[in-house]
Amino acid sequence: MKQLRFSYLKTAGVSADRLAILGDRLQPEIARISAAWGAGYKTPYASLSLPSDDASLADIQCVIKEKQALEPSILVVIGMGGSNLGACAVHEALSGFFYNEQNPALRVYFADTLDVDYIKSIYQACDAALQKGSNVLLAVISKSGTTTETIANAQLFADLLQKYKQDYTQYIVAITDKGSKLWDTAHKQNITCLSVPQLVGGRFSVFSAVGLFPLGMLGVAIKDLLAGAESMKKPCTDSEFADNPAALAAAILYEQYQHGCTIHDTFLFVRRLHCFGMWYRQLVGESLGKRADDEKKERVGITPTVSVGPTDLHSVAQLYLGGPYNRITTFISAQLDSSIQVPVKNIFDSLVPMIQGKSYAVIMRAIELGTQRAYHEQKRPFMTLELPEISAYYVGQLMQMKMLEIMYLGFLFQVNPFDQPQVELYKKETRKILSHE
Ligand code: PA5
Repeated sequence: MKQLRFSYLKTAGVSADRLAILGDRLQPEIARISAAWGAGYKTPYASLSLPSDDASLADIQCVIKEKQALEPSILVVIGMGGSNLGACAVHEALSGFFYNEQNPALRVYFADTLDVDYIKSIYQACDAALQKGSNVLLAVISKSGTTTETIANAQLFADLLQKYKQDYTQYIVAITDKGSKLWDTAHKQNITCLSVPQLVGGRFSVFSAVGLFPLGMLGVAIKDLLAGAESMKKPCTDSEFADNPAALAAAILYEQYQHGCTIHDTFLFVRRLHCFGMWYRQLVGESLGKRADDEKKERVGITPTVSVGPTDLHSVAQLYLGGPYNRITTFISAQLDSSIQVPVKNIFDSLVPMIQGKSYAVIMRAIELGTQRAYHEQKRPFMTLELPEISAYYVGQLMQMKMLEIMYLGFLFQVNPFDQPQVELYKKETRKILSHE
């Protein structure tokens, strides 16, 4: 099997000496992560034991089989943040845009908002399907089991199911912490439950039932996804620092942050990875934006942005190439399909002569390389990541590498990457407001 290709030499703007110093600093953390990998769910690095947890995979597959037997035509994934973005990212990467390429018989909607227009349109689609006698399956995903948005949507869609089905609880799967209020309630109602290991936080949970149940229902090769994630153990923990893409990326981001590059742009030249970008944005934002646990107790945090090429070159390239020196970029690309070419002998064929007969993949690649050359000329630091192809295996590798990068960054910034104390603040205030209305 191939590997993701990570490049940074000459373009990331960090000297070999500085990298060596940071590499030495990271050694104890690399050793800790290596020891925790696959060693169970008792440490904060618990998520690293998910890809090799065959017992948990067997439980999830059993529920997938049971719910596939109901032949649903719609799956509604109800969850927020880490309980939603991982599945959404993998689904978009592998299943495409307009219909589900992996399993065309099943449509999926991600209910991750209380925006009325959006939720109403999902509700209407479900209502129409149920009216026609089709089945709708709900995956209610909340680690805490009490997230306001998730529970409101769970109630709304459970209510809809109840209008059409006497045995409606069999069309619901709850994915939550064992012992949460959602877990207890679901159990009392005979709703199938899948658990999330307690120390696996939302944004690190894509390889648990949180991601695997919806993705398996959608026909994604979840075993390959996990195999890709597991294959990152060697390069990201057991190799020399110079061959460790997660530790190198973390060191580069950290060093550039010290020099004012507080923004990290993930520039995707694969549109299917846009939602992956949103998943990574959450991973960076929630994991690193906090007060450092050192003497100075400074507030730190990289601001994650997501751009999609070539579309965003026509909106933000001027800022990126001509604006302040406050950004480092990771370009992400993949081998693209060359099945579409610019037709020759066409009414428009004299307008841009050099594209005639070329495949879209070749033109995309030229734009990407052209962008990188311009970045280099303008001294805009960047790294590149290339996937051999967009498949479950390589998406698994990419996500695992990024979660490790964040763990290494947490160590360098001296923050706990696994908590999100300030997110709780808005949840608490919202509950207060709603309790008084
Ligand atoms: O990564 C996280 O921990 C958060 O983004 C949570 O996933 C999000 O707030 C939803 O929480 P819960 O899964 O408890 O509903």
